[in-house]
Amino acid sequence: MDRLRFGICGLGFAGSVLMAPAMKRHPSAEIVAACDPNAETRAAFGRDYGIATYDSLLPMLDNTDLDAVYIASPHQYHCEQVVLAAERGKHIIVEKPLTLSEDDAQRMVDAVERHKVQIVVGTSRSHDPVVKTMRDIVRSGELGRLAMINAWNYTDYLYRPRRPEELDTSKGGGILFSQLPHQLDVIKTIANAPIVSVRAGSGKLDPQRPTEGHCAAFVTLSNGVFATLAYSGYDHFDSDELQFWIAESGREKRPNHGGARKLLVELTPAEEASFKTQRLGYGGPVARNYAATEANRKQPHFGIVIATCERGDLRPCPDGVLIYGDDGPRTVPAHVGRGAYGQGDTIDELYDALVGTQPTLRDAAFGRNTVLACLAVLQSSKTGREVPVLP
Ligand SMILES: NC(=O)c1ccc[n+]([C@@H]2O[C@H](COP(=O)([O-])OP(=O)(O)OC[C@H]3O[C@@H](n4cnc5c(N)ncnc54)[C@H](O)[C@@H]3O)[C@@H](O)[C@H]2O)c1
Repeated sequence: MDRLRFGICGLGFAGSVLMAPAMKRHPSAEIVAACDPNAETRAAFGRDYGIATYDSLLPMLDNTDLDAVYIASPHQYHCEQVVLAAERGKHIIVEKPLTLSEDDAQRMVDAVERHKVQIVVGTSRSHDPVVKTMRDIVRSGELGRLAMINAWNYTDYLYRPRRPEELDTSKGGGILFSQLPHQLDVIKTIANAPIVSVRAGSGKLDPQRPTEGHCAAFVTLSNGVFATLAYSGYDHFDSDELQFWIAESGREKRPNHGGARKLLVELTPAEEASFKTQRLGYGGPVARNYAATEANRKQPHFGIVIATCERGDLRPCPDGVLIYGDDGPRTVPAHVGRGAYGQGDTIDELYDALVGTQPTLRDAAFGRNTVLACLAVLQSSKTGREVPVLP
């Protein structure tokens, strides 16, 4: 199999701005169809990529010759769409979070198993080359046993323009289902183990954006490694200041504290959703900026992540991983995949599983464990108690 023929489901920020250009350049991928209910986006994307487009997943599955689908629709559609694709024998990349409930996550695990298709949950920032490199260093044993990981990120997440459901926790809104999966997946990937329990606090600090915007959690993994995560999305402190002013995407960044909040002043929810499509959607200013700066990217990251081993600490840096060992710090280059950072590595993971090189790491069971951990964060925040994730 030279190339995977992909259909993209959902042409918003993740589908059309982040993944489609990465897929176009990836040596083992080809975009052959796409679907989205938004007629305008669909028409523009279909024209530019020279492919057939559909208004929903089913006609795309039934009318095109696909090996795999990449599902980048809003969270609430992931479960039905994964099950549909699996039933038709298509391999799958599904955006994080896998889904929003334990029952749906189990349905997805069962569907891919029954229909013997491969699935990768991603892109999450755990696909970044810096995370793979940290994981490889830990696995090599050169720094001794991994003991703990601390992952902290302070961003403007809550003030990036949103669809209404992205600000409603019951519909998967807020940081818990959209941002924590990145940190949880990074921790799990470096530690090479699932999460067994969570003790967390989270809350809502802005009544105008009534969903969780901050969280601190203590996470225990099945191999005894423990971790903390802290996330704040209030556009005040920006932890990229401690990441050499390199943004999450690996692009250089100018300090702009409070800038995201100002862009939203006095927009109704409907105006904000449309502003999101204009600003972050296909062909918008962010897409144009990303295309123009792709060649100058440093390594993407998800804030400060420090892994502590017996004989050294590790953390991502713009060119790779900094190792602070017994003899001081040194940088090792990141283990870069075959395509664009993160998205390309996600395609690599599916392709490698299909050609038998390596099984997928972020499979449905991995995604299910992350969903259960997100739900445990919510529950623990309410009860003030540690919540088991795995028996
Ligand atoms: N990995 C990442 O870095 C990353 C970044 C952003 C979003 N995401 C994930 O991608 C998903 C989409 O988020 P987004 O920010 O791109 O949203 P978005 O609002 O930018 O785009 C969503 C798109 O899906 C379309 N859509 C709506 N219902 C659909 C359906 N039933 N079938 C197909 N398409 C449908 C919309 O018309 C829109 O074009 C979310 O699950 C989110 O968590 C991941």
